[in-house]
Amino acid sequence: MDVSFQAQQVIENINYVIFWLAVFLLAWNAYFLAFNKGVPNIRTAPAIRNKIIEFLKKDSEKRGKKTYNIIDLGSGNGLLTREIARHLPHAQVTGIETSKTAFAWSVKMRDQCKIKNLEYKRADFFAYDMSEVDAVVMFQGVHFMEKIGQMLHKKLKKGTLVCSNKFALGDGWKPDETLNVRTLYPFQKKLYIYYK
Ligand SMILES: C[S@@+](CC[C@H](N)C(=O)[O-])C[C@H]1O[C@@H](n2cnc3c(N)ncnc32)[C@H](O)[C@@H]1O
Repeated sequence: MDVSFQAQQVIENINYVIFWLAVFLLAWNAYFLAFNKGVPNIRTAPAIRNKIIEFLKKDSEKRGKKTYNIIDLGSGNGLLTREIARHLPHAQVTGIETSKTAFAWSVKMRDQCKIKNLEYKRADFFAYDMSEVDAVVMFQGVHFMEKIGQMLHKKLKKGTLVCSNKFALGDGWKPDETLNVRTLYPFQKKLYIYYK
């Protein structure tokens, strides 16, 4: 077989792979734009999840409240909320999720795991009442952080703990702590902690 023919075949194969990769990426983005408000349903890295649980435990012990209310803004498939609810059995955990499939999956897993102190709301978290909330956790899209910052300034009571994976809050929030966390996830290395 002639060498230039072989080279042409290799180029054609590369083009083929690039084409289907581009189609896949477009479909992936279109899906999350349509059903997840543009924020891909990616879970929080285990190492960051453990840190969040540490902060929640410390804060709930410090407050000594009978019911410590935690919400997850965009709870995805619910793994983070399940782990929080398991580690803080005295707390009430609520996951707020817009996607129908992610919401349904979370409810199913919660029921299968028989977790009692965990509930889900299929809703837009921008419209959620946060007056009784003691702690907020989130892993949101960078394009929402300014709007979320504004909302939390308006809605949270003084002293509420906020843990944000990967992106800092906008609207002038200054983190009380910024943690660099070693994780196996290439794009999740930072955790921002705030007390309103
Ligand atoms: C990156 S996932 C985070 C999942 C989970 N909280 C975790 O950390 O493992 C973000 C989720 O937020 C949801 N979401 C984005 N905007 C939302 C909104 N305004 N209201 C409710 N859910 C929203 C998306 O559908 C997506 O499932």
